[in-house]
Amino acid sequence: MPRLENKVVLLSGGASGIGAETARQVVREGGKAVLADRDETRGRALADELGAAAHFVPLDVTQEASWQAAVAATVETFGALHGLLNAAGIGVRNSIEDCTLEEYRRVNDVNSLGTFLGCKTAIPAMKDAGGGSIVNISSVLGLRGAAYAMAYCASKGAVRTLTKNVALHCAQMKYNIRCNSVHPGYIDTPMIAPRLEQSDGNRSGRQSLEDMHPLGRLGRADEVASMILFLLSDESTFSTGSEFVCDGGLTA
Ligand SMILES: NC(=O)c1ccc[n+]([C@@H]2O[C@H](COP(=O)([O-])OP(=O)(O)OC[C@H]3O[C@@H](n4cnc5c(N)ncnc54)[C@H](O)[C@@H]3O)[C@@H](O)[C@H]2O)c1
Repeated sequence: MPRLENKVVLLSGGASGIGAETARQVVREGGKAVLADRDETRGRALADELGAAAHFVPLDVTQEASWQAAVAATVETFGALHGLLNAAGIGVRNSIEDCTLEEYRRVNDVNSLGTFLGCKTAIPAMKDAGGGSIVNISSVLGLRGAAYAMAYCASKGAVRTLTKNVALHCAQMKYNIRCNSVHPGYIDTPMIAPRLEQSDGNRSGRQSLEDMHPLGRLGRADEVASMILFLLSDESTFSTGSEFVCDGGLTA
């Protein structure tokens, strides 16, 4: 039996990278995927490619009204909401000394506040559906620091503990809604393309990132999507409030 049969999943950041690959796997496993992203061109193109089991809605994760419209469109199009992937995110390089207030707010608005709004808006619809599964993408940089990624680390650390709070609240309220975080290492998606171009003198940007992972390479979006699919499916019904690391050994 397909692993996501009859499940409707809303994916922020569904137009690109890990979100797009997860949407492909959701449809392949018999589910319905609502791709929600601020990038309308790529989002609509992927929804067209995936066919009748996919739908695109424009979403700015920093706006509550935009989330409400996306959840309403999901229920209107496919009848319910069972799964939410919070994958929309931005990465910026800065240290505590050169990060401006504006930049700190921008990164945290998308990565952290966007995840908060996604969880808050999806829960009522999941309650109506009898339960659901929320997957929030944090990062290995939500588990440890990096001097070059101050605002990003702060935003992803917030996603980690926000996830546990949502999981505990939903468990206490007996909503049958689970919530887990996923912590990827460096994954070869458009997000890290600028980093791959930056040589550190001796090594190419790609080589220096590959060397951080004991497995000796970058991760692929489909490898993270497989973990997310497990969490969205009924194969993971005893997992909630947990951290799922997918990092080629980086944090080992
Ligand atoms: N690629 C990596 O190495 C890596 C590592 C750890 C964690 N992550 C996280 O994984 C998630 C997915 O990243 P990716 O690598 O697939 O990147 P990506 O750049 O390919 O995709 C991110 C998507 O988020 C969308 N987005 C950005 N801001 C938005 C907003 N305000 N509203 C709606 N959509 C918005 C973009 O349009 C894009 O489609 C992010 O949260 C990222 O921080 C990525």
